[in-house]
Amino acid sequence: MLKTHNCGDLRETDIGRRVALAGWVLRRRDLGGLIFIDLRDRSGLVQIHVDEEAGDCYRAAEKLRNEYVIKVEGVVRARPEGTVNPNLPTGQVEVRSESIEILNPSKPIPIQVDDDGYKTDESMRLKYRYLDLRRPRLQKNLAIRHKAVKFIRDYLDAQGFYEIETPMLIKATPEGARDYVVPSRVQPGKFYALPQSPQQLKQLLMVAGYERYFQIARCMRDEDLRGDRQPEFTQLDLEMSFVDREDVLAVVEGLLTGLVPAVAPHKRLIRPFPRFTYHDAVARFGSDKPDLRFGMELVDLTKMFAGSGLKMFAEAAGAGHIVKALKAPGCASYSRKELDILTEQVKTSGARGLATIGWTAVGLKGSIAKVLATSEAEEVARRMGAGEGDLVCIVADKEAVANKALGNLRLEFRDRLKLAPPDLMAFGWIVDFPMFEWDEESKTWSFSHHPFTMPHEEHLDRLESDPGSVLSKAYDLVCNGYELSSGSIRIHRRDVQARIFKCLGYTEEEIARRFGHMLDAFEYGAPPHGGMAPGIDRLVMLLADEPNIREVIAFPKTASGSDLMFDAPAEVDPKHLRELHLEITRD
Ligand code: AMO
Repeated sequence: MLKTHNCGDLRETDIGRRVALAGWVLRRRDLGGLIFIDLRDRSGLVQIHVDEEAGDCYRAAEKLRNEYVIKVEGVVRARPEGTVNPNLPTGQVEVRSESIEILNPSKPIPIQVDDDGYKTDESMRLKYRYLDLRRPRLQKNLAIRHKAVKFIRDYLDAQGFYEIETPMLIKATPEGARDYVVPSRVQPGKFYALPQSPQQLKQLLMVAGYERYFQIARCMRDEDLRGDRQPEFTQLDLEMSFVDREDVLAVVEGLLTGLVPAVAPHKRLIRPFPRFTYHDAVARFGSDKPDLRFGMELVDLTKMFAGSGLKMFAEAAGAGHIVKALKAPGCASYSRKELDILTEQVKTSGARGLATIGWTAVGLKGSIAKVLATSEAEEVARRMGAGEGDLVCIVADKEAVANKALGNLRLEFRDRLKLAPPDLMAFGWIVDFPMFEWDEESKTWSFSHHPFTMPHEEHLDRLESDPGSVLSKAYDLVCNGYELSSGSIRIHRRDVQARIFKCLGYTEEEIARRFGHMLDAFEYGAPPHGGMAPGIDRLVMLLADEPNIREVIAFPKTASGSDLMFDAPAEVDPKHLRELHLEITRD
């Protein structure tokens, strides 16, 4: 080793010790006759003191520039009085240097690599990711990621799980996104699909008798990207045999209850994780991935307004729509302009409009203040628990639209009013999802989790006659407004699986071609099984208090799926295309 110690580890107990350090020059301050260097390695930084008396060493220090890689030998000593830096773990000491060796110089770097330089244009950060990754913030995030994955491995090992790798080059595994495909050279015109998840493979491992499997699994999905989505991401994929829902939830809840304090001790949890049906979550929070760090639940006012003189509400109630509201405490003073902004946001969520009413010291304010009967205003105040200073926002629309619009408005108020304690990780289980979703565009039923999910047994007889009413044994884990994990008890019988594929509109030929191997496997003693797959990137993002998953992935892609460092995707050599029997046509 070139070094005897890590820079960030030196303390007062090391005073008098002769050390060799190696790392990067974070900055150099030349005071004339005395040079200070902040030397950084992965562990942190320490101050190096070089005075003129050090001779050659001083002349070497004069040549140093930011990000030079150097080796320093010297003696640890206490910093002189008045120069102690209480903000730095090594701030009590410095190293008086006796020799400096330049291991490699550096050109002036194109981005600043301390945390102050974090706001640099993100495309520059991604182009020079190997420099960006030098920042303490990203180093801390990747350390958290490492610890989280290590905790997962140890925990599941102790619970009797085997870690098993599954292939990358397979066939389509539907999870609702497009597949990335890889052309075969040796079999012209044929393609592999990269796994959207190891779903089918882990189920086949259950058929094979492995009983408890997990994998830190890479998944590839060609879908529209956003802050919590990458085309390549990592799941903790797990599957268990001979279990029901409670067994799977207990393993994941136990894992996270241990992991969070071990990896992010400053975070608080609510235990046990609260549980909601899909229907209740949407009705109460306007979302199937509610942020449970705060209340502000939606209140249904449909019945109250059924016979109202206020036409827009009475008509909505009469048409089978709903009238729903939320209370924003202390927001009655919002200006007309602010209310217009909220109305626009509600419209962006698909609703026709937003009605508002606020209670102020000088009377009622808001868009329906003048048209609402006094008795109705009093009734709204009573039902909403609204008092002076409060604003009530009401949406009358189709049930799903009103819930979604108010769910989004709830998050808007969360941010405006800072309602969510940042140290809380509010996990919650969402259960009893609908088995199918109606797809307006294709006018067909599609799966809401994936097609291998078991419907509730007592709903099986209406699978074909009333698919919309069938609930499934799917469950999600949510945290702070994110879907952190999905899973389900699976189908393990061929007849049920074949019926589900038919409900989803697959032809016999398609079923045989795409899923024949699964159906066959279910005929050779498939045990009852179930599992789930928490997203590691989203989990680490929350543990590290980051706003998006790019900050916890070493080499992420941009929103348009580019890797700016490699400049990928890129064109390939025509010779390579010929070998793959491919031709590029441009419309
Ligand atoms: P699902 O598709 O819901 O379920 O994915 C499970 C979890 O993986 C994470 N995730 C993502 N993270 C980052 N970028 C993405 N593009 C992305 N897509 C999903 C989320 C999500 O909750 N095979 C099933 C699981 C099972 O049934 O066991 C599956 O993949 O955190």
